[in-house]
Amino acid sequence: MRLCLNIDHIATIRNARGEGLPDPVTFALMAEQFGVDGIVFHLREDRRHVNERDVRLLRELVTTKLDFEMAPVDEIISIACDVQPELCTLVPEKRQELTTESGLNVIDNLTNIKDAIDRLHERDISVSIFIEPDLKQIDAAAEINVDIIEIHTGNYSNTNSEEEMFDELERIRQAAIHAKKLALGVNAGHGLDYQNIKEFCAIKDLVDEVSIGHSIIARAVFVGLEKAIREMIELIQTSK
Ligand code: PXP
Repeated sequence: MRLCLNIDHIATIRNARGEGLPDPVTFALMAEQFGVDGIVFHLREDRRHVNERDVRLLRELVTTKLDFEMAPVDEIISIACDVQPELCTLVPEKRQELTTESGLNVIDNLTNIKDAIDRLHERDISVSIFIEPDLKQIDAAAEINVDIIEIHTGNYSNTNSEEEMFDELERIRQAAIHAKKLALGVNAGHGLDYQNIKEFCAIKDLVDEVSIGHSIIARAVFVGLEKAIREMIELIQTSK
């Protein structure tokens, strides 16, 4: 199970002062040196964290893999087609939300999402959909030719008891098995941290990649980026 780092929060801190520091692009390049397998960013319609300058520089300089998170809307799809990241992850986007709150409802937005996938495929970009661990949603995603699903782990991360946590993990495991049967790649993310990643690793053979942002950046503030990344990689490698 590979680790990709979401760098949005670094851009948010930069934007708080309206100046250049800390630079999310420099941060991404350092993260690559410290062992992450890819860099994730979400170019939002309101540009609240990364902006187009960041996206274009990331494309030029990142050598691992770029995962461009985006709402399936015309303006952002056009930018992605131009930038050509290795992967685009389609997510729902609401102006008022603090962070992405749920998976995309593929069933209710089939045509719109299919159009986005087709446009990105024309540019040879792989496409992932951020999705709840719901078998019907996964079937719908497979029908419109998505390459990968990213299973939303928010509910798993927010559980309050061991019992609930194992129930949620089981839902994710079943979703991952189902997606693999449909020949889809399986990623996962949202709310994963240094505690809950240990239990999550029980299903790591079914998950190709996790996308983690908040917990690693929060830890990096205290211990530095290198230690924060290496600790997470070690947990992923050693937990069973
Ligand atoms: N995956 C997706 C699709 C997301 O929107 C986010 C949050 O930006 C993440 C993963 C990472 O979540 P977190 O910051 O809680 O690790």
